[in-house]
Amino acid sequence: EKEVTEENKRSHDCKELIVSLPREKGWITPYLHLFQGFCVPKSGTTWLKALTFAIVKRQHFPISENHPLLVFNPHELVPPFEFVIYDENNWQVHELPKMPEPRLFGTHVPFASLAKSIKETNTKIIYICRNLFDTFISTWVFVNRIMPEFLPALPLEEAFERYCKGIIGFGPSWNHILGYWRESIARPDKVLFLKYEDVKEDVVFNVKKIAEFLGYPFTEEEESNGVIENIIKLCSFENMKELMVNKCGTMGKGRIVENKYFFRKAEIGDWVNYFSPSMVEKLSKIIEEKFSGSDLSFRLCDLNNST
Ligand code: A3P
Repeated sequence: EKEVTEENKRSHDCKELIVSLPREKGWITPYLHLFQGFCVPKSGTTWLKALTFAIVKRQHFPISENHPLLVFNPHELVPPFEFVIYDENNWQVHELPKMPEPRLFGTHVPFASLAKSIKETNTKIIYICRNLFDTFISTWVFVNRIMPEFLPALPLEEAFERYCKGIIGFGPSWNHILGYWRESIARPDKVLFLKYEDVKEDVVFNVKKIAEFLGYPFTEEEESNGVIENIIKLCSFENMKELMVNKCGTMGKGRIVENKYFFRKAEIGDWVNYFSPSMVEKLSKIIEEKFSGSDLSFRLCDLNNST
């Protein structure tokens, strides 16, 4: 804990400390507290949270002009569990807040570091990943936008070199993805593995998949009444980005982050506007090496966009 100094934070090297920090009852505590809110993998968490909330809570909150997603940011409705169970001052575990069942939480914690109470129970996990080219750019832009209040921004090339070494919040992206991927193969009832690009390509199919996986399948009546389409519309980038709460709202207590930073372009392939040929070559090689034999591949451009 003491090693996480101001200097370490500034140099963005803290990720390397994650492995050496003590785990308390299976949770990584001080690290996450320290970095809450900005070590973010940028793979579609906000979207997944919105969809999951709308799907699971649809009996309580039918899609209407009073829906909670129209007035709250998805991160407030599906809070990161590491935010809510630790006492801010003395790092103590508190009981989960009395949220109505089913309780939905988000996290960026790697699978290996999840608490036993999550891994070894019937808690369901939905994981979303995104091609690493777009994820890196999305993270870099996000961090640079929100960082000035916390940390100096890094130039693209420097951030990229660090990313290729695995220096990024919550550890190397390839380890993070493979951890959940392997678990989804071993225990498909426990972990649903999604790709941002697939959800974008066929959102109806994936919304149904999420609903079935969590035990809230749509009835025929709901399907014919357009419930799925209404959920998709409510959670769409175009809709969420324009909501007052996401245009002007903020989240966090000490470190305030403006909600608008969670909604940027939502495109597949924006990385082409940033990557040099040598960066493409380097990251492609890393991906080939790290994911070899895993049967996992990533789509780097939008199939619907011919440009
Ligand atoms: P870009 O920065 O490429 O635009 P996270 O939610 O994990 O922080 O990921 C943020 C990324 O998801 C951003 O990508 C953001 O624009 C995109 N995003 C946010 N809300 C979305 C939505 N409702 N549908 C699709 N993409 C969304």
